[in-house]
Amino acid sequence: NSSLAPNSAIPAPAGPVVLLVLDGVGEGKRDEFDAVAVARTPTLDALRANSVFRSILAHGPYVGLPSESDMGNSEVGHNTLGAGRIFDQGAKRIDKAIESGAIWDGAWSEIVAQVHQRDSALHLIGLLSDGNVHSSMVHLQVLISKAAQAGIRRVYVHGLLDGRDVPDRTGEQYVITIEKQLAEAAAAIVGGADYRVASGGGRMVTTMDRYEADWRIVERGWQAHVLGTARPFTSALTAISTLREETPGISDQLIPPFTIVGPDDLPIGAVRDGDAVIFFNFRGDRAIELSQALTAGPEFDSFNRGRVPEIYFAGMTLYDGDTNTPAHRLVEPEPVPDTISEYLAGAGVTQWAGAETQKFGHVTYFWNGNRSEKFDAATETYVEIPSDQVPFNERPWMKSAETADAIIAAIRSGDYRFIRANFPGGDMVGHTGSFESAVIAMESIDLAIGRIQQEVERTRGTLVITADHGNAEDMVERDKQGQPTLVADGSPRWKTAHSTNPIPLIIADYDNRVFHLRDDLPKGGLANVAATLIELLGYEAPKEFEPSLITE
Ligand code: 3PG
Ligand code: CO
Repeated sequence: NSSLAPNSAIPAPAGPVVLLVLDGVGEGKRDEFDAVAVARTPTLDALRANSVFRSILAHGPYVGLPSESDMGNSEVGHNTLGAGRIFDQGAKRIDKAIESGAIWDGAWSEIVAQVHQRDSALHLIGLLSDGNVHSSMVHLQVLISKAAQAGIRRVYVHGLLDGRDVPDRTGEQYVITIEKQLAEAAAAIVGGADYRVASGGGRMVTTMDRYEADWRIVERGWQAHVLGTARPFTSALTAISTLREETPGISDQLIPPFTIVGPDDLPIGAVRDGDAVIFFNFRGDRAIELSQALTAGPEFDSFNRGRVPEIYFAGMTLYDGDTNTPAHRLVEPEPVPDTISEYLAGAGVTQWAGAETQKFGHVTYFWNGNRSEKFDAATETYVEIPSDQVPFNERPWMKSAETADAIIAAIRSGDYRFIRANFPGGDMVGHTGSFESAVIAMESIDLAIGRIQQEVERTRGTLVITADHGNAEDMVERDKQGQPTLVADGSPRWKTAHSTNPIPLIIADYDNRVFHLRDDLPKGGLANVAATLIELLGYEAPKEFEPSLITE
């Protein structure tokens, strides 16, 4: 069903079409908290001034999220880029399943049956956050209530601390909210019940690794949640306050893993044979590895699991459509068929996709609608550049230079018509809340783009630069009026999360082709990029795609 007709108005360029996604680089206020504007970026400045340029939308309804106040994120951003259409995403799909009750029909009923039959515990593992990027507090709260209604006697929450999609150093608030709900739910169960937070840790050091960047993160989570052998504390709040005292100023993301123990010093909620475990995150990239560890047989060798309990495991939704991970889930995802890469593969257009580890899956798996495999191995090449395993404020240049090397090699090979890549610096360094580092990240990316630009120009190709959502262009927490907020010592309260800002779209054509931006798409967004790329490649965009942003 995927075929593409040649475009009579815009011919294919002599060289490749090269798309660079600058992760987390939005259009900001260009003030002193805008690391994109403060950075010295001569190449980007010249490209903006001298080529086709506009801003496009990358948040809320423009990427399938419920409201205008929802910031964009990389999953929905790359899904939308690759799909060329807007699909209901993440939280919204689960919300609907809760509303309709469909969430209770499948895996949930099997979980309740197993826990009753084996007189076992239910574990809820996931991110304590209302960032709505990986998880939702509302979903967790609904699961706890439903477990209580079903008369489940033991429920243990293994809660990861965020500080990355929500303001930093707010982890306690989420723990307090959940502990209160757990206590109330348990009190309402006749005959008594044990509902508690049983373990936790900062998400960047515990459990939520992605793209196999660092399995030690998952191993720590395994010890905290499953074995119950992380550093012992008598409560989650004691753990957080002690760990904060030990490392003043520590970000929630980096709080070491902990296990809650009882008066006997034994873990209160380790995972045992017969238990049921739900990973309540709905976003897959950072949920796949623990899901594998919890379900794989003895062939698993990513770390030494020690005791491997025999459990019923379900994810909130499907995390990887190609590997069917996990096999059980509460809510089925909406499949994203006929993505741009499927069309291009069908038309025989050779494709190269690459990024460093931290965003490798963004331009492959997320781009292809949460599927990790290629459509046509004969015409598609994926290249992963290994990321550093450090907090990225310490290496803000990340692998910008190495990524440029790989892209330049792909252009020089002459083997690819469409090349796409992701530069993570604006996002990954933006998430650390270090302004100085974010500036350096942007400067390293600009240097890389300069080198790529020369090669695209030499081969008479087309360079397209955009982003997936904002982050580095707004590095300060703001009040409701948009004014920067300060901490006690008068310094800015640095922001670690994404923004709702629009993002840039630059099209620099070096084959003297004639086209213009359409002026009738003021709300153009990420969903319009796929059709634009297909036209730039010399084809007619599929009818079902959102329209291209250019015209002859
Ligand atoms: C993360 O997973 O790092 C953040 O929660 C979201 O960032 P991303 O959407 O840019 O990956
Ligand atoms: Co991000």
